[in-house]
Amino acid sequence: MQKSIVVVGSINLDLVAGADHIPRVGETVIGRGFKTFYGGKGANQAVAAAKLGCPVAMVGNVGDDAFGTQLRNGLNDARVDTACVNTVEGPSGVALITTDLRGENSIVVVPGANGHLTPKLVEKAAPLLERAGFLLTQLEIPLETVDYLAQFAERHNIPIMLDPAPARELSQALLRRVSWITPNETETLELLKTNIRNGDQDYCAAADRLLACGAKNVLLKLGARGCLIAQGTLPKECVRAFSVNAVDTTAAGDAFNAGFAVGLMRGYTVSHSAFFASAVAAISVTRPGAQPSMPSGQEVERFLEQHPTAPTKQPS
Ligand code: RIB
Repeated sequence: MQKSIVVVGSINLDLVAGADHIPRVGETVIGRGFKTFYGGKGANQAVAAAKLGCPVAMVGNVGDDAFGTQLRNGLNDARVDTACVNTVEGPSGVALITTDLRGENSIVVVPGANGHLTPKLVEKAAPLLERAGFLLTQLEIPLETVDYLAQFAERHNIPIMLDPAPARELSQALLRRVSWITPNETETLELLKTNIRNGDQDYCAAADRLLACGAKNVLLKLGARGCLIAQGTLPKECVRAFSVNAVDTTAAGDAFNAGFAVGLMRGYTVSHSAFFASAVAAISVTRPGAQPSMPSGQEVERFLEQHPTAPTKQPS
């Protein structure tokens, strides 16, 4: 039987305003439009992996408000198993998002129910977690829950991918337990409290520092510049991003993580999984919203037929 991906993470309703530019401090701008989308880094990764054809289950919380029912239904519609999604007292998580004309965004997340995803609630899902082929998590749930999950993964020998978003300081013990850590550029700066001045050399040095902090495998997500893979002492590898017209980059990182996990679950090599993930993320940025922007497996196949060259290179 094909093993599942289990995502332990956040489920949000995204309240999205489009504007010519993202307002500066103290500035009011007139928006071009307003829409709501199903979001949350955890739920986005779950939906993206399910749309690619992988069996996926979600462990998370929604509130006992009207959003909670909608968010659960959204996951069910995408064929994500929601048996371990709890309804807790209080509001569901929401994200207030502004997108600009270049497709860039700024996000404020109000965790609501996600903030009550305790280790105890995750422990209740142990029978599901034990059968997982891959665990995916992020930092929109309490850190003690992420710590608990990483210990669970280590005990049961299940690979776990941590998307350290939104960024915060992480213990070496946690870093040592995760199989893959996948920060973007801002998160890398926050994790290492350092500056990256754009060159491959700096990215390689940052990846080396994360490895030195205990991370087993690092995948730096560098947006339109692609990604850098660092696995212990193996030579580092860069995978270029596909060039597309971005309309909304919200959840591109989630699309990438899901694609990468699905690639590894399918038995692709690490660099081919990153190539596949790059295609999933590229398609997602050409569409508005978080979950509705995630492509199906067939869409990714078609995209790759049109872009057949593997965009890998050695870091210079
Ligand atoms: O990664 C994008 C997601 O971040 C949005 O869907 C929003 O809900 C926030 O969690």
